[in-house]
Amino acid sequence: MLLPSSVRLVDVGPRDGLQNEAQPISVADKVRLVDDLTAAGLAYIEVGSFVSPKWVPQMAGSAEVFAGLTPRAGVTYAALAPNLRGLEDALAAGVQEVAVFAAASEAFSQRNINCSIGDSLKRFEPLMALAQAEGVRVRGYVSCVLGCPYEGTVRAEQVAPVAQALRGMGCYEVSLGDTLGTGTAGDTRRLFDVVGRSVPRAQLAGHFHDTYGQALANVYASLLEGISVFDSSVAGLGGCPYAKGATGNVATEDVVYLMQGLGIDTGIDLDLLIAAGQRISDVLGRANGSRVARARSAAMASQ
Ligand code: HMG
Ligand code: MG
Repeated sequence: MLLPSSVRLVDVGPRDGLQNEAQPISVADKVRLVDDLTAAGLAYIEVGSFVSPKWVPQMAGSAEVFAGLTPRAGVTYAALAPNLRGLEDALAAGVQEVAVFAAASEAFSQRNINCSIGDSLKRFEPLMALAQAEGVRVRGYVSCVLGCPYEGTVRAEQVAPVAQALRGMGCYEVSLGDTLGTGTAGDTRRLFDVVGRSVPRAQLAGHFHDTYGQALANVYASLLEGISVFDSSVAGLGGCPYAKGATGNVATEDVVYLMQGLGIDTGIDLDLLIAAGQRISDVLGRANGSRVARARSAAMASQ
């Protein structure tokens, strides 16, 4: 397989990364993170969520974050919306693009959005209709594509119909999420092989949590399967509130470093990105989750 000359990275740190944080994070710190990421060259940021604040309290201030950020030309600022209400609130906040999220496992669907997979897809129908009427693009997620915290094994054959349904209802791209971070490179290749038979690979993305340390290998395995859009989280922030023990997404810095080594363009300035990740890690009072950032900082400190 010929590798792509460029990839598109979606930084989900401000959403997937911060949604799991119990400590309060100010709107100003969230805004700074988003602006730092776009300054580093990220062209797609998942800024927040318009979900129930009872379910995910940390995302309650998402409208304020959208109001506070400094828009840059050519950057997409997106948000999660689980239902029509979420899209309406997102539209009121001026959001240009939203993402809906379904699961490949029934138990996770119930825990995450309180309904079955089938009901979640039905719930998206009025959302999709309004989005289309408003000219808002919708991205789709399928969670638990390589394992479920409640059901264990998830087969690629379970993922394909959900991805196909999202595509069929108008999602321009479907991101396959290893929510739990247990998947291996072999699982990842099989996943895209199977799902790629019903959804074109150009419309699929990879979203890998790094719980088992496999995420970067899974990104590379996805490249070999013809995938060229990846979700990642600056400083490896995060986890999912409904997948206990799962850690953050693969660190954006580490993905950029991998791509540099492969001669694949990301449009991102690694030094500025590392600075952005270090700043938010300091705000959270925690070690930077990017191996590349830690290594670079250690090398600079010893100079
Ligand atoms: P529900 O309780 O079944 O819904 O929640 P409901 O319609 O009965 O409403 C309950 C209350 O929520 C009502 O308020 C509604 O008004 C309110 P009350 O009358 O009790 O005061 N409500 C809302 N409030 C704000 N925004 C809304 C909204 N909708 C209803 N949009 C619901 C169903 C989907 C709302 C809930 O389950 C929910 O918000 N879940 C969010 C879960 C979530 O955000 N999970 C994390 C993101 S997914 C993820 O991380 C995975 C991903 O990264 C990919 C991967 O890694 O695999 C994407
Ligand atoms: Mg996730």
